[in-house]
Amino acid sequence: MRNLLERSVGPGVELQFEIAQDAPLALADSNQVELALLNLVINARDAMSDGGRITIAVDRAKANNGDDLKPGQYVRLSVVDTGVGMDAETLKRAIEPFFSTKEVGKGTGLGLSMIHGLAVQLDGALKLVSAPDKGTRAELYFPVTTALAQVMELTHLEREDGQAVARAKILIIDDDVLIAMGTVDMLEDLGHEVIEANSSASALELLKAGSDVDLMITDFSMPGINGAQLAEEAKRLKPGMPILLATGFAEMPKGAITDIPRLGKPYSQAQLAREINRLLPNAPDPQA
Ligand SMILES: Nc1ncnc2c1ncn2[C@@H]1O[C@H](COP(=O)(O)OP(=O)(O)O)[C@@H](O)[C@H]1O
Ligand SMILES: [Mg+2]
Repeated sequence: MRNLLERSVGPGVELQFEIAQDAPLALADSNQVELALLNLVINARDAMSDGGRITIAVDRAKANNGDDLKPGQYVRLSVVDTGVGMDAETLKRAIEPFFSTKEVGKGTGLGLSMIHGLAVQLDGALKLVSAPDKGTRAELYFPVTTALAQVMELTHLEREDGQAVARAKILIIDDDVLIAMGTVDMLEDLGHEVIEANSSASALELLKAGSDVDLMITDFSMPGINGAQLAEEAKRLKPGMPILLATGFAEMPKGAITDIPRLGKPYSQAQLAREINRLLPNAPDPQA
């Protein structure tokens, strides 16, 4: 990814790589890891408008009792910058979905939340160390995988687990790919199975094809068929299926009367979980 990262940070920022030759292996979706690294590097760049240095390191780390990680061996991917850093309040909220200190259009506030979701899914963690004017250290921990046999065993276990737990199958529709991706991460993080569609038309195709969906969450303002129209059509196709209409403040035009439950945008993972538990009382409680 060296070229892509160098292009993304521009000439004022020095990129340094410290990749341990004996770094162990972890099992993860490489696309998601690449996206996570790119997000961390762009955050570092954004924190260094006057230039600086970003160090990307990969090494082995051990988690001990008392850590928020299960004791064991991890592959650690760190992105360290010499930027403006974060004050305590920002640091506390940094991984919150939609939390951003950047101006509208520059930040979505979804980067760290997605990365956190990825790490948690893999039984790893995202750790942030930062202070004003002291730069930021972001560390991603992935559990070490030692043998192919173990990898296969894990995959098997996961599948059995998935069948045993009555998790919900949720269809999410948003034309904003980043928001859709962020929501998918939050829902998967809550233990649900998620299908993503980026238009009402493709959602309707899925429903018409008989996809067994337990719950549908749709954005309201989308080009073509809007969320309220999609909901009406979906009700005809799947009468019992609960639907949530996600709308930003004042996004619903006057006179658009709909009895579909609404979810205010932006929503947090906790709000999502609450609404899902209300509409699907048998869904697993992630807090339990
Ligand atoms: N490397 C960093 N240095 C300083 N602040 C950071 C850094 N990374 C993240 N932040 C803070 O955390 C917030 C959330 O980051 P993120 O989830 O990636 O969303 P976004 O980059 O879209 O704002 C940023 O807006 C910023 O305030
Ligand atoms: Mg970001």
